Amino acid sequence: MQTRERTFLMIKPDGVQRGLIGNIISRMETKGLKLVAMKMMAVSKDLAARHYAEHEGKKFYNGLLEFITSAPVIAMVWEGDNAIELTRTLVGATDPGKSAPGTMRGDLAVFTGKNIVHASDSPESARREIDLFFDQAETCSYEQPHEEWLYD
Ligand code: RTP
Ligand code: MG
Repeated sequence: MQTRERTFLMIKPDGVQRGLIGNIISRMETKGLKLVAMKMMAVSKDLAARHYAEHEGKKFYNGLLEFITSAPVIAMVWEGDNAIELTRTLVGATDPGKSAPGTMRGDLAVFTGKNIVHASDSPESARREIDLFFDQAETCSYEQPHEEWLYD
């Protein structure tokens, strides 16, 4: 059974700086996911620490915070059936060197430290991350004409 979900997707500073915003959004749109919130923003040290709290203490943690606050990001919420797992599949493995061709990281990135996007990894993470980056009023609900025939 399919479940309509919302997931958090963020284009990291390297994706923004390399001009990959349109490419990444296009992959999500053409797959059939629906964009329901989006903004360009600078991530503060505090927000970065809260977002990446699960990685505190790991050897890459300080560098990760440094990187994610180094230039603007594009924060987005996408909706669709099974959207959380589906988006992770479109994003590809954490290490772009091992991500399958056809995925965002497999096609567009080389290093783990510069892997262009973040995507929620579970329903709990999605809820937490959406609430961390967006006020309720910033997310939209609307119908798409083709929705009925995209999903069973
Ligand atoms: P993300 O959270 O960004 O969507 O990535 P992910 O789930 O695929 O990977 P995760 O394990 O959550 O790691 C978060 C981010 O930390 C950086 N990282 N660096 N140098 C390293 O060994 C290392 N490991 C992770 C990556 O930017 C990764 O996306
Ligand atoms: Mg993660």
